[in-house]
Order: sequence, then structure tokens, then C-alpha cells
Amino acid sequence: MAEFDVIVIGAGPGGYVCAIRCAQLGLKTACVEGRETLGGTCLNVGCIPSKALLHASHMLHEAGHNFEKMGLVGTAPKVDWAKMLGYKDDVIAQNTKGIEFLFKKNKVTWLKGWASIPSAGQVKVGDEVHSARAIVIATGSEASSLPGVEIDEKTVVTSTGALTLPKVPKSMVVIGAGVIGLEMGSVYARLGTEITVVEYLDAITPGMDGEVAKTFQRILSRQGLKFILGAAVQGVKTAKGKNSVTYRSRKDDSEAVLEAEVVLVATGRKPYTDGLGLEALGVEMEKRGQVKTDAHWQTNVKGVYAIGDAIVGPMLAHKAEDEGMAVAEVIAGRHGHVNYGVIPGVIYTTPEVASVGKTEEQLKEEGRAYKVGKFSFMGNGRAKAVFQGEGFVKILADKETDRVLGCHIIGPAAGDLIHEICVGMEFGASAEDIALTCHAHPTFSEAVREAALACGDGPIHA
Ligand code: NAI
Repeated sequence: MAEFDVIVIGAGPGGYVCAIRCAQLGLKTACVEGRETLGGTCLNVGCIPSKALLHASHMLHEAGHNFEKMGLVGTAPKVDWAKMLGYKDDVIAQNTKGIEFLFKKNKVTWLKGWASIPSAGQVKVGDEVHSARAIVIATGSEASSLPGVEIDEKTVVTSTGALTLPKVPKSMVVIGAGVIGLEMGSVYARLGTEITVVEYLDAITPGMDGEVAKTFQRILSRQGLKFILGAAVQGVKTAKGKNSVTYRSRKDDSEAVLEAEVVLVATGRKPYTDGLGLEALGVEMEKRGQVKTDAHWQTNVKGVYAIGDAIVGPMLAHKAEDEGMAVAEVIAGRHGHVNYGVIPGVIYTTPEVASVGKTEEQLKEEGRAYKVGKFSFMGNGRAKAVFQGEGFVKILADKETDRVLGCHIIGPAAGDLIHEICVGMEFGASAEDIALTCHAHPTFSEAVREAALACGDGPIHA
């Protein structure tokens, strides 16, 4: 008899959620985690700490720009960086301890240490070998490196180092205009750092709806971020406390150098499966280094499953969580399902950016007949009251059936607003279904309804 029904390797959003769900389904479950605290990259050095710093820096921005307009006058707050980092660390601790509590509550055993899989059905942690009927690899991802760039996590940093800089730098070059680059770039821009973002492609946020990406870049530029697009970073040299970033223009092949106190490398992440012994175990991998799985998240080795950033698909905490719950169902002998067509993506800048489903570019490429319903937040009373009239909601619906195919929002609370569209899409909603649903006034969500109305006979407030 195996010691456990399931051993989950990794306690990030994929792994810990999977372990809790397995336990809830009556499986004897352990979760291996080598970090001092549970929660993985997301809770310790990713989503949660960055949101704390985004919040604090947004508050500073509000105080500096909008307080006076509302009749709030008086001494302007200054940045106590050590205290701000302390606040961020408190937020991390509350969350990671919360997972520890949930493990205890659900009777999930935390095996502390780094795991390897000597054979199917066995997991080695330190000197001990544990047995399990099923093993779930949920080991996540790590920042990918860039040739010619040596990361020291002091002045040449990934997102991890960017969350613990000893002081707010005067200048920062951000390599990569993806989610990490723009979120962390926003934080430091608001704290007074001069930010230059160097991006390989000709637009920011690859894969995002083009119209949203353009508006987003315009708004961020107005917030002080500088962009150099179509530029491939060749390398970073560090001397006398200054970093020189060399990049080559893709248009004319010319080279140029930028100097900065700190360089943030945000050029993507890659699956982290080091030390698991997957090669010896004979686990098949994808070309790009992810663990290969079937439709039920099982690898070619029976009883060994994989989820989250370690497998193909968007590297998002919520995608990993959904896979964690679904694979738990499968292991428990039930049905698990993830609808990969309805996974929202959110960028937590101000304004927020959120999207789900198809972009206009994708629909064009597929040759689908579609219609567009757009509504600006300038027509939304609530948004204007809080100085957030920038941005819009864009709904894409099938031209014939009116079925919602995608939604792209840039504006206040976009990351929350997107979910009414997610639910709608799960239920196969038409734009009219959204438009005929009563939305409370005054809320930001009215802009979503107006965009849905724009897919039909037209919005009211535009
Ligand atoms: P990313 O894939 O979003 O963006 C990387 C950018 O770097 C791309 O635009 C790429 O063209 C550019 N790039 C690559 N090589 C370059 C070079 N040599 N010179 C200039 N530019 C170059 O990757 P990012 O921002 O590092 O994020 C990693 C992962 O973490 C993503 O999958 C992201 O979805 C996830 N994440 C999600 C968050 C969220 O959901 N809010 C927050 C943070 C990360």
C-alpha cells in the first residue's frame, strides 16, 4: 500500500490548490515544497508582492496628482522605502501563512525539501523516499536568461530582485515590454525612477488586442515611461555602479547604448523542472522544455501528472489553479475540465488591462465575420468621478449569432470587470444577453453593458 494517494510537487497556486482539492476529495495527500514558505513564486516573489507595491505606489500617485483636486490638501506623503518593503513582506506573510493554515485544515502533509522522482510511484525528499499512487509535478517556472546578460539580482535583476532593491533607483532600463516589465516599470516610475523600456517587437504586450496595446502604450508614456520598440538587447555591461545596455535596432541594424542604475530583465519565463530526474524517469518533454501531457494532464509515465507553468499554455497562476483542481478530479476518478478558450489575462497597472477570448487580430486571421462594440470610460460617470476616464471596453461578437467571442478592457477595475464576460462566455452568451442584464448604477461595469449595447442598436451614453 502506498503511503499517500497523491504527492504534489510544488506549493505554488497550481500545486497547493491541487493538494487541497485532492484532500477534499478524500485522497491522502502530501505536498512537497523546498521554500521556507508555501505559495510558490506567485505568493513569495510574484503576483502578491508586486500587487502590494503597485497599490502603495498608486496611492502615492493619487496623493501627488488627485488629492488636491478633491479638496484634500496638506503635506504630501514621502516614500519610506524600507517601510514600503515591510508592508509588502507583511502581505506576503499573511498569504503564505494562510496556505499553511489551509493545509492543516484540510490535512495536507507538507513534506519540506526539494523532491525528485526516482521511479513512478516514488518521491524522494532529502534522504526519505515516499510512495504515492499519483504524483503531480507543479514546479512552476523561472525567469529565462538573455545571452550577454548576467543577472546578479542586485543591479541586474529579474522580477525577484526588483521586489527587494535596497533603494529606489534613479534610472532603470526594463528589457521586455511584457506583463512583468510594465507592472514593475509602473511601480518604479511612480516612485520617481526614470524608466526606459526596450522591446524586441514593434508593439508592447505581444498577443494583446492591437487597439488596446496602442492605447496602453500612450497612457504609460504619459505616465513617464519611455519606450524603445523594435530593439533587440545585445548585452549588459556593469562597471563602476552603472549598467550599460546595448541594443540593436531591428529596422536599420544600428547599435545604441543606454545607461541605468538598475536593469530589469523581463523577457519571459521558462518551465522549472531541474532536479526532478525526469530524463532518467523517461518523461517526454515538449520542444520548448515543458513537460508533455495528455488531455488529462498525465505524462507518458503512468501515474505521473503535470500542471501549471511546467506544461504548455499561458504562464498564469489561475490557469495553474484550474488545472490543479481538474487533475485532482481526474486522480479521484471523476471528470476534470479546463476551458482554455476562457482564461482571462490581466495586467495590474493603472489603468488595468484585461482580456479574454479572441483578439480582433486573431478573428481576422481566422477569417471570421465579427462585430465590435466599444465604449469609452469617458462616458461612465463613476470612472470620471475617480479620475479614471481613460480607456475603453471592447466586445467582439459573432456577426451572425451575436455570441461573445472576446473582450478587451483597458480602464478602472478591468481585472474584475472581465469576469462577467468570462461567465457569459462559459454560458455561450450573446452580446445581447449582456446588454439586457441590469447593471447597477453607478458602477464601472456599466461600461461593459454599454459595449454590449454597442454590438446591437448602440450605447446610450456615447
Ligand atoms: P512576457 O512574455 O510577457 O514578455 C517578454 C517580452 O520581452 C516580450 O514582449 C518579448 O518580445 C521581449 N523580449 C524578449 N527578448 C528580448 C530582447 N532581447 N530585447 C528586447 N525585448 C525582448 O514575459 P514577462 O513579462 O517576463 O512575464 C513572464 C510570464 O509571467 C508571462 O507568461 C506572464 O504572463 C507571467 N506574469 C503574469 C502576470 C499577470 O498575470 N499579471 C504578472 C507577471 C508575470
